[in-house]
Amino acid sequence: KKPVPRAKGIDNSLTLIKEGFQFLPNQRQELGSDIFETRLLGKKAVCIAGEEASEIFYDTEKFKREGAMPKPFKMSLFGEGSLHGMDGEAHLNRKRTFLSMFTPDRVEDLKRMAIKHLDEKVSKWEHADEVVIFDEMQEILARAGCEWAGVPLEEEEVKQRTREMIDMIDSFGGSLSRFKDGKIARNSHEAWLQDIVKGVRKGKMSPKPNTAAYIMSHHRENNGKRFDKEIAAVELSNSFRPLLATAYFLTFGVLAMHEHPETVEKLKQNPKYSHMFAQETRRYYPFVPAMVAKVKKNFTFKGYKFKKDTLVVLDIFGTNRHPDSWDDADSFIPERFDGWKGSPFSFIPQGGGDHHTGHRCAGEWLTVIVMSSFFEFFAKNLTYDVPEQDLSFSLERMPTFPNSRLVIKNVKKAADYE
Ligand code: HEM
Repeated sequence: KKPVPRAKGIDNSLTLIKEGFQFLPNQRQELGSDIFETRLLGKKAVCIAGEEASEIFYDTEKFKREGAMPKPFKMSLFGEGSLHGMDGEAHLNRKRTFLSMFTPDRVEDLKRMAIKHLDEKVSKWEHADEVVIFDEMQEILARAGCEWAGVPLEEEEVKQRTREMIDMIDSFGGSLSRFKDGKIARNSHEAWLQDIVKGVRKGKMSPKPNTAAYIMSHHRENNGKRFDKEIAAVELSNSFRPLLATAYFLTFGVLAMHEHPETVEKLKQNPKYSHMFAQETRRYYPFVPAMVAKVKKNFTFKGYKFKKDTLVVLDIFGTNRHPDSWDDADSFIPERFDGWKGSPFSFIPQGGGDHHTGHRCAGEWLTVIVMSSFFEFFAKNLTYDVPEQDLSFSLERMPTFPNSRLVIKNVKKAADYE
């Protein structure tokens, strides 16, 4: 058996926080290996990358989630007791409840609602001095997500609830102040959703039976009991809050349209192009750096021994740009997805493997349809200027977005606006 190459340094937590998205790719390059050992948060961790590595990582015979996720993630990003950390039968049952909400007709519902809220905003943008795309996308998605989930959102609380959901998403990158903001936001967000669950259970609110508000309030587990109100609120949140993460990708996509102007014509002409463009935006731009799991039972992979209970980190960003899977991996080329043969393991911006039996993101279809319909909408229906600004983004900050938050001006509806 080969010894796993080891990164320099006693504990690399601080280097990770400092180097952000580049930490894992940098170490791999330095050590010349897609597998290496390091210490993170005082624990031994084996870091892996690439298509084959992601295939073993998403093999539920080899890996489990129990005890893998650092506590701060539960306290701010995902919530205590959420499906992200579950295994086996319990996870499968919980996942089934989630997936029952993401049927094709419900995906279409969200697309329609999101476009409606975008259209309402455009009427305001026409009269605005400038429009900050990142902020506007967050609010549109908060409005659409709540409507879709059957969660009432009063006009005067739109800003607060949007901010809270973004603070939770923005909390994962290792900054203490952002983590604190995320935790405060989660407390308020969960209290709000617990009241909604109580209201639905008492019949004071009647969301439609196909919405998350209804399903998470009334669903009964195999033991015949409903979720505790705490779990119901956490999972109701997980049914629509992550939609706001799409604001990062939407902003990057609008940036890509600006930096690759030839794509705008293609988005207008070719009905298949918006899908390829959305996929390439999810592959190329950084959002999720990595995922963690623990070895369930001993196994050997590529001659390296993986011992039970070892913490394993899968390099998500690095796998999406791995040269073994992608030609010219560091270039933005939507056409690479034209007739792409597909792989559940090389293209993993929202996790890999199977949506139903594994941990792959339940909201992937929602994300892709919102992205592709928004990019098409921007290309076909709007004209605008992108003034001089700092459009660069840091690879050290996680998550990241253009420094200027992407400002546009002189927004006008195209002649054939629809
Ligand atoms: C899981 C990313 C949007 C709901 C995940 C995972 C990732 C991810 C990386 C974990 C995969 C793993 O555990 O290995 C993203 C990104 C999004 C996004 C980048 C958009 C930019 C959404 C949306 C929803 C959603 C729109 C729902 C409305 C979920 C749920 C899980 C999950 C419920 C847990 C799945 C499980 O553990 O079985 N997502 N997601 N996500 N996501 Fe998303």
